[in-house]
Amino acid sequence: MTNTLFSPYRLADVELPNRIVVSPMCQYSANDGCANDWHLGHLAMLANCGAGLMIVEATHVERHGRITHGCTGLYSDDNEAAMARVIAHCRRVGTAKLGIQIAHAGRKASAQRPWEGGGALKPGADPWETIAPSPIAFGAGWHVPRMATHEDIARVREAFVNAAKRAVRIGFDTIELHYAHGYLAHSFLSPVSNHRIDEYGGSLDNRMRFGREVAQAVRAAVPKSIALGARITGSDWRDDGLTADDAVVYAKALKACGLDYIDVSSGGVTADTRNPTTPGYNVAIAERIKREVGIATRVVGLIVTPALAESIVAEGRADMVAMARSILDDPRWGWHAARELGVDIPRAPQYQRVGPKLWPGAALRA
Ligand SMILES: Cc1cc2nc3c(=O)[nH]c(=O)nc-3n(C[C@H](O)[C@H](O)[C@H](O)COP(=O)(O)O)c2cc1C
Repeated sequence: MTNTLFSPYRLADVELPNRIVVSPMCQYSANDGCANDWHLGHLAMLANCGAGLMIVEATHVERHGRITHGCTGLYSDDNEAAMARVIAHCRRVGTAKLGIQIAHAGRKASAQRPWEGGGALKPGADPWETIAPSPIAFGAGWHVPRMATHEDIARVREAFVNAAKRAVRIGFDTIELHYAHGYLAHSFLSPVSNHRIDEYGGSLDNRMRFGREVAQAVRAAVPKSIALGARITGSDWRDDGLTADDAVVYAKALKACGLDYIDVSSGGVTADTRNPTTPGYNVAIAERIKREVGIATRVVGLIVTPALAESIVAEGRADMVAMARSILDDPRWGWHAARELGVDIPRAPQYQRVGPKLWPGAALRA
């Protein structure tokens, strides 16, 4: 077996020590957008999982752009200070480079935390008005969003820029635009959720406009030394939805806006769509984007075993692999993958007694 998974990778000016990325994972545990001690412990743990890069959960660019009352934000000075504290701690104690995903939930905002049901907030639970390209609900029982006006679009674009500036000040190595999973940007791109007849709807070129404008504006505000990317939708997994062909066109357009990488996810455009359940179900789409667009490509989705992660990178199907549930399940996933692939990796000094000496018979190559 080779050890491509643990080879370094340069993303813009950022030297990632390996190709493993902790996928962003909402914790629904913030206070008015402010990260707290939950995030401190959780993220410090994940920053020591052996991944080269850890991405902080979808962090919202305006208060009404949050999915739930518990989602993190970067829309206030208090939010920025709270996140800065957590990230300074992760930087001190962890081995991973640090990224953040910035997002606007669109018609999936004003929702309950998953453990409260995960549906739309009920009257009495402080729901708020949501916005979307068209006044079409995400699913039965969801809020009908207000159709975003040109003023809304301009405000949200500026909110992305301001959140990105806060992320730069905090010192993140990478910033990721959340353009997937049915949230605002994805809902502009997909013909399933965007029925507009103005310049933001209709043709694919028009439906890409919102994402392109945000990407251009954020790129102008983020120094080139910080890797800026987007998580996009590889497929809506519906006959009337986005396809891999659309994802290739979109990735090209975003590359032209100056983005450094594309992260390929999929699904989530409506409440009733379901993703495939096969291991690495987005890999074929990522492979096309990497080949046809020529941009650094990351892929996510049921990549659970070190052997699969290694083969994706070694065969050049993607440059990086992102993992969510498997790392939540095993917060030392990277250490265990390294052992399985026969390599040793850096650990915090406090943890160095866990190493090759503990693995009788392990044949190390690096
Ligand atoms: C608890 C949890 C929270 C998540 N939150 C986010 C998020 O904030 N942003 C995002 O893009 N994806 C989010 N996701 C999706 C994951 O990042 C990932 O794309 C998905 O779980 C598929 O990868 P996996 O099979 O490795 O879990 C979340 C997933 C989980 C399990």
